[in-house]
Amino acid sequence: MDQKKVAKLNLKNNELPTEFPILSGSMGPDVIDIRKLHAKSGMFTYDPGFLSTASSSSKITFIDGEKGILLYRGYPIEQLAEHCDFMEVCWLLMKGELPTADEKDSFVKSINAHSMVNEQLIKFYQGFRRDAHPMAVTVGVVGALSAFYHEALDVSDSQNREDSAIHLIAKLPNITAMAYKYNLGHPFNYPQNHLSYAQNFMHMMFAVPAEEYRPNPVLARALDRILILHADHEQNASTSTVRLAGSSGASPFACISAGIACLWGPAHGGANEACLNMLEEIGDESRISQYITRAKDSNDSFRLVGFGHRVYKNFDPRAKLMRETCHEVLDELGLQDDRLFKLAMKLEKIALEDEYFISRKLYPNVDFYSGIVQRALGIPASMFTAIFATARTVGWVAQWSEMISDPEQKIGRPRQLYTGKSTRKVLPISERT
Ligand code: SDX
Repeated sequence: MDQKKVAKLNLKNNELPTEFPILSGSMGPDVIDIRKLHAKSGMFTYDPGFLSTASSSSKITFIDGEKGILLYRGYPIEQLAEHCDFMEVCWLLMKGELPTADEKDSFVKSINAHSMVNEQLIKFYQGFRRDAHPMAVTVGVVGALSAFYHEALDVSDSQNREDSAIHLIAKLPNITAMAYKYNLGHPFNYPQNHLSYAQNFMHMMFAVPAEEYRPNPVLARALDRILILHADHEQNASTSTVRLAGSSGASPFACISAGIACLWGPAHGGANEACLNMLEEIGDESRISQYITRAKDSNDSFRLVGFGHRVYKNFDPRAKLMRETCHEVLDELGLQDDRLFKLAMKLEKIALEDEYFISRKLYPNVDFYSGIVQRALGIPASMFTAIFATARTVGWVAQWSEMISDPEQKIGRPRQLYTGKSTRKVLPISERT
C-alpha cells in the first residue's frame, strides 16, 4: 500500500490540525491510518459494528458493494464458478495463484491423505443427543481437533500453518457429514478418495451400507459451485472472529471453531436455514404481502431473511449464480415447478419493486437461494450452515495465515466508550440500601 495524501483533524482547540496518513490499496476505498490517534489526542475512534473501519490489510478477497463485484485474488467469482472447481479455488485462496495441473494434482492428493479423522474423535459424537444441531456438533468437534494437533503446532512456522489448513479443509466434510448421519442414526461413512471433494461429501452424507451410492455428477457440480461461492468473503463477522482469536497465537483448530460459532448466527451464515424456514412459513404467494409489511415495520423484529447485506448495496453476485444453480438442479431433478423456488422468485420480484427495499438498497444475498438449492440436493435445512462452514474453512485458514504472517499484525485489542458509573466508594453491607 502507498501513502500519497494526509488527513488533517482538529483534535484540540487552538492547536494546528493533526495529520494522519491516507493509505491506498490496489482497489477500493483509501484508509486513514489512525494508529497514532490515541497517542496524539488521548481519544479513540467510535465505530460499533465496524461500519467504517478496516481491521487489516489483505490480498485475498475484494468486494465492491456498490457494483456487486466479488474477486478472489483478483479473479471475478463468476469466472471461477464457471471455469474452476473447489480444489482449484482452495489453492488460489491459500497460495494467491490458480494451480497448474501438477499443483492441483498434488494438492488433491494431500487433501485426500487427511480426509479421515482420528478414530478417537469419532467417539465424541456419542456424547451428543441424537437431535443435536449439526452446527453445535461441528463447533465442538472442530474445537476438539486442537487436542489432536497440539504439541507440534508452531503457528509462526509457515509449513505448520499449511499443514493445519490441509487438515481442516480435508476433515470438515467428514466432520459435518458425520453430524448429519448421527442425527439420522445412520452409520458413518468413511471418505472414498477416488471421488472428487464434492462427490466425497455427498457420499459421506447420503450413502448407506445397504445400497450402492453413485453421486449424480450434475448435483455434485452444483454442490462444488456452492462451496466455491461460500469460500471467502473479506472481513465478515466469522472471518474477523477467526482473525481476532488467531491474533493471540491460539490453535488454528480452536480459532476455526470460533469462526463456526459466529457463522451460525441467523444474521450471518445461519440465514440460509432461516430463509428456507421463512419461505416455508410464508407458504403461499398470497401471504407474501403480509410478510413484506412485517419486514418494513420497525416495531416488528421480523426481517426478510436472505435480503440485505452490510457491504452489497447491489445484487450479491453470488445470489445470481446461486439462482442459476437453482435452475440447473431443479431442471436436472424435474422440479421446475418447485413451490418454494417459485415462491422465492415471486418474493424477490415484489421486494425489489418495493420502495422500502429500493431506498435501503436491500437485495437478495447469497443465502436467499442457497437453501432452495441445498434442499433440492437432499440436504436438510439443519445442515445448510454446516455446508457453509465447510466451504468457508478455506477462507478462514487463508485469512488466518495471512494475518499471522503480517509483520504489522498485533494482538487484537479494541478499546471502548465507557458509559458506566464513575469511581465510587464501597459501603459496608450494613449501610447499603
Ligand atoms: C451473510 O458480511 C458478509 O460478508 C456476510 C456474508 C458472507 O459471505 O460472509 O455475506 C454472509 O451473512 C449474508 C447476510 C445473511 N443475513 C441475512 O440475510 C439476514 C437478514 N439481513 C439483515 O439482518 C441485514 O441486512 C444484515 C445483517 C445482513 C446487514 O445488516 P446491517 O448492515 O447492519 O444493516 P442494518 O441492520 O443497519 O439495516 C439497514 C436498514 C434498517 O432499516 P432502518 O433502520 O434504516 O429503517 O435496512 C433494514 C434495517 O431494518 N434491513 C432490513 C433487512 N436488512 C436490513 N429490513 C427488512 N429485512 C431485511 N432483511
